Amino acid sequence: MRAVAVSEFGATPEIMELPVPEPGPGQVQVRMRAAGLNPFDWKVADGVLGGKVRHRFPLVLGGDGAGEVAALGGGVTGFAVGDLVFGLFMRLRDGGGSYGEYAVADAVGLARIPDGVAVTDAAALPMAGTTALNLVAEAGVARGQTVLVVGATGGVGTFVVQLAAARGAHVIATARPDAADAVTALGAAETVDHSAGPVAAQVLARYPHGVDVLIDVASDHAGLVAVAPAVRWGGVVGASTWAVDPEALAARGIRGFNLDNRPTAADLGQVADEVAAGRLRVAIESVVPLEEAPAALARSRAGSARGKTVITI
Ligand SMILES: NC(=O)c1ccc[n+]([C@@H]2O[C@H](COP(=O)([O-])OP(=O)(O)OC[C@H]3O[C@@H](n4cnc5c(N)ncnc54)[C@H](OP(=O)(O)O)[C@@H]3O)[C@@H](O)[C@H]2O)c1
Repeated sequence: MRAVAVSEFGATPEIMELPVPEPGPGQVQVRMRAAGLNPFDWKVADGVLGGKVRHRFPLVLGGDGAGEVAALGGGVTGFAVGDLVFGLFMRLRDGGGSYGEYAVADAVGLARIPDGVAVTDAAALPMAGTTALNLVAEAGVARGQTVLVVGATGGVGTFVVQLAAARGAHVIATARPDAADAVTALGAAETVDHSAGPVAAQVLARYPHGVDVLIDVASDHAGLVAVAPAVRWGGVVGASTWAVDPEALAARGIRGFNLDNRPTAADLGQVADEVAAGRLRVAIESVVPLEEAPAALARSRAGSARGKTVITI
């Protein structure tokens, strides 16, 4: 089968001809139709988990994907050959990922694609959609709160904006001028241009007492330290980038957390149901064929994502 893989950490991802992966007990083999790109995919290729988890090479890249069930491993119930499914396909120990014609997933990491949800939308949902879901839930976003979303224009942020607005929050989204209209259309009440000056100062000029919640999916530790003063005493700060120092924030009465998103099948089903019901939109920036996945990964690395990139297979 054709797949996009790396031969070692740091190698340039390339199209390779590789054996079709076979499902073991508890696993499902899927004929992939689409894969969703996440920054984590190129971070894994760079070796971010090297030394922590065993990797097998060639390593097929990609975690998120969607397709049609082709075969079931022993003991799998709840799925049948031909079902349209989506979910989590990264299996570093076996060299498996979603950027290939076939991929294998643990059955517990898959959910059915509901009627009315496009395969490309389903492929874009798993990591970004459930990370947003769990960030908003763990932050306890509630009606009437002011919620600052840093990184609002990317894959996770476009979902955070919608989910926080759906809970009745007043969402302030970071956006460069080119992306302000799009993030407003997703539910942001107002935007802050993070390229025009420090975000904290811009937000405090409008909200002198600070916002109730900061959800940050873009800042490194120094960036988080710089933006955190925008949060009021007793507020909440959650990040997907491991930038939060909970103890430092506690000194200001703020509850801080770093989300390590481990999506369940129930999480996957919940975000897909929101899409099926028309309450959540998948902001897709580009759809590219498998051959162009290496170039798409390079673009993701360069930054300026505007929603999700999907790879069709
Ligand atoms: N902890 C977990 O379990 C978990 C799960 C999922 C994702 N993540 C991580 O979360 C991060 C976001 O993922 P993603 O998929 O949303 O990435 P993405 O699609 O690449 O989007 C990043 C967005 O952040 C914006 N941005 C960059 N620097 C910014 C700044 N200083 N202030 C405001 N906005 C800024 C970018 O726009 P501009 O370039 O125009 O500024 C872009 O729109 C990544 O680091 C990813 O690895 C972690």
